[in-house]
Amino acid sequence: MISCADAKNDQENDLDSEVKLERTDVVLEQKFRALLGEGAFWNHQRQELYWVDILGKSLNIYNPSNKSNRKFPLPYRVGTVVPQTDSSAVVALDNGIYMLNTFNRNLRQISFVESDILTNRFNDGKCDPNGNLWVGSMHLEEKEPAASLYKVTPDGTTTKMLDNITISNGIVWSKDGKTMYYIDTPTAKIRAFDFNLENSTISNERVVVEVDEDDGFPDGMAIDEQDKLWVGLWNGNAVARYDPENGKLMEKIEVPAHNVTSCAFGGENLDILYITTARVDMTEEELEKYPLAGSIFSVKPGVRGVKSSFFGTSE
Ligand code: BGC
Ligand code: CA
Repeated sequence: MISCADAKNDQENDLDSEVKLERTDVVLEQKFRALLGEGAFWNHQRQELYWVDILGKSLNIYNPSNKSNRKFPLPYRVGTVVPQTDSSAVVALDNGIYMLNTFNRNLRQISFVESDILTNRFNDGKCDPNGNLWVGSMHLEEKEPAASLYKVTPDGTTTKMLDNITISNGIVWSKDGKTMYYIDTPTAKIRAFDFNLENSTISNERVVVEVDEDDGFPDGMAIDEQDKLWVGLWNGNAVARYDPENGKLMEKIEVPAHNVTSCAFGGENLDILYITTARVDMTEEELEKYPLAGSIFSVKPGVRGVKSSFFGTSE
């Protein structure tokens, strides 16, 4: 007979072999009322969580050790953030890509990409292993495939890498850097590409996961040290772990918010998953049921993440 303790150990040690649905051990990390909390990024150098409120137009830097949050109001909607140094971060605003000085709060535009397309805005983005920002746009009405995915080098040179996108969203690289995973939310699919580490280009597109419509829509994404994908589920009240090798849903962790937008592994041991959520697109009933929507949640999922690349560095 297996005792409860053994069963628990098995569970903790053996995330791969079992599908454990509907775990409920998420905790409230810090209460916020973000309209559209997004873009979670763990700054492993400073041990801080960078995140944005896209519609609330702010970058936020949250320090879990003392639960403090520094807020940087921005003049436009902000799709994502990736730090560059202790005092600078790249942000994707409505009309292009900017460097924000987090000491004196100055903004400097480095790319005017899509500044002429008023029907789109920027959404999620992360850096590849060579330190280039891959950031995508989305159609404001979320209907037309009128958006694109771009690569922005540290000097601001911007290249369109994919078009025909509707809501550009989660993007991550495998541990060896040779595979890029990418989500265009309304397709409900996670695509993979071969990533060429020499010249930071992609090829060999294929679909690796099809998200069941009953689970919600795939939004932001993180990757763990076993190269499994953790995905926030918009309209799905959960984050889910998918295996890109076979397309299977491995695990689902319930979050007390209707729209779960992104997640990032953080903490000294990269063993805490920080989760952003939104307050928009909820009915009155849902807002009553999930009063903490817009907050940051956290969970120890039993597996570690990997460090995310900064802008302009390949470490
Ligand atoms: C976007 C939202 C969108 C959601 C679901 C988010 O990343 O910022 O505007 O509604 O994804 O597709
Ligand atoms: Ca997102």
